[in-house]
Amino acid sequence: MSQQLWLRCEKKEFERRSALTPTTAKRLIDVGFEITVERDEQRIFKDSEFEAVGCKLTANSSWPTAPVHVPIIGLKELPASDEPLPHTHIQFAHCYKKQGGWSSVLARFHKGGGTLYDLEFLTDATGRRVAAFGFHAGFAGGAAGLLAFAAQRNGEKLARLEPYENETAMVNHVKECLGGSGKGVRALVIGALGRCGRGAVDIFRKIGLDEDDILKWDMAETAKGGPFQEILDVDIFVNCIYLSSFIPAFLTKEQISASGTSRRLSVVVDVSCDTTNPFNPIPVYDINTTFSDPTMFVELEQGLPALSVISIDHLPTLLPREASEQFSSDLLPSLLELPQRQSARVWTDAEKLFKAKLAEAVEAEGLFTVTAA
Ligand SMILES: NC(=O)c1ccc[n+]([C@@H]2O[C@H](COP(=O)([O-])OP(=O)(O)OC[C@H]3O[C@@H](n4cnc5c(N)ncnc54)[C@H](O)[C@@H]3O)[C@@H](O)[C@H]2O)c1
Repeated sequence: MSQQLWLRCEKKEFERRSALTPTTAKRLIDVGFEITVERDEQRIFKDSEFEAVGCKLTANSSWPTAPVHVPIIGLKELPASDEPLPHTHIQFAHCYKKQGGWSSVLARFHKGGGTLYDLEFLTDATGRRVAAFGFHAGFAGGAAGLLAFAAQRNGEKLARLEPYENETAMVNHVKECLGGSGKGVRALVIGALGRCGRGAVDIFRKIGLDEDDILKWDMAETAKGGPFQEILDVDIFVNCIYLSSFIPAFLTKEQISASGTSRRLSVVVDVSCDTTNPFNPIPVYDINTTFSDPTMFVELEQGLPALSVISIDHLPTLLPREASEQFSSDLLPSLLELPQRQSARVWTDAEKLFKAKLAEAVEAEGLFTVTAA
């Protein structure tokens, strides 16, 4: 029998991304997969685009009625509920690091006998994630930073951000807000060799910043230890590091105050968003900002130039089409191994992790099965 796969709709507000795209669905169909797609007006791809490549369309939110042997693929968490989950689900579940409500999410799998393959923990042989949204997080973060810079230059605060139809629309809009090009703007990206960092560097190039005005820092450049004067000497600072342990702060309020009116820096984009992490290397703010109110101003003494921070933790949503295409094509080699998931390493490792987390949840929820004497 051919491998079946069911793409469910997303229920989170503003979420227009999709785990499968018409491109990757076609690649799977070409090798014999049967793909069912729930109709979804919120998704950036039209239902008809999936139909055109041979997917079977079905009603929105109908996955609970899917045959139990059909894996369900989606991106974000399922809406909260106590309903048992008998299917195999491939998605981000955000329940393996003891996030709020983690054990009740896993308890649903225990009660239903289903399996969770968490997309965040599908890794290659070296332990690196097979698919992540980083590049477009950095790209969209850089764009938001440029828009905030343009607004501040006009004495305004950046208004609500809306997802763009595609990358060209985003690039054109940012250029227009900057008066045609970003020439003359100076930016520093820390974590520039990573996924997010490469995305930030890419948008700065596409907006027309001079190559010499895009400072690209990674481990070697921060090894001397912060805080760094170089951050105060650019217009936009984008933080894209993967924080794994304590590091000296990159930027501090004392340093900003001491620089007085000579500071050039006007926007900080914290793509890494380690906002509430005690080791946050940018301890000048403590909230996550949102698409409806993308910037917050750092509280400074009167008379100092404004400094705003963007700390949105779901930036790729601003570019749903390209972000989905990239994520889904990175996931494709693993999906092609789905029929062999009992033996293919990427899936057996993910299942092992699921079982370990499930056992922890069973204990936390007191769900032990009572066996008859
Ligand atoms: N805001 C969002 O919407 C969003 C979306 C995706 C990812 N993220 C976050 O962005 C961060 C980066 O993700 P990624 O996929 O790009 O990671 P990555 O591992 O691909 O890249 C991280 C880079 O940071 C560098 N780095 C680490 N510590 C550093 C230091 N002290 N100084 C200089 N460079 C340092 C690494 O060498 C690497 O090049 C993660 O925390 C991730 O959770 C945020």
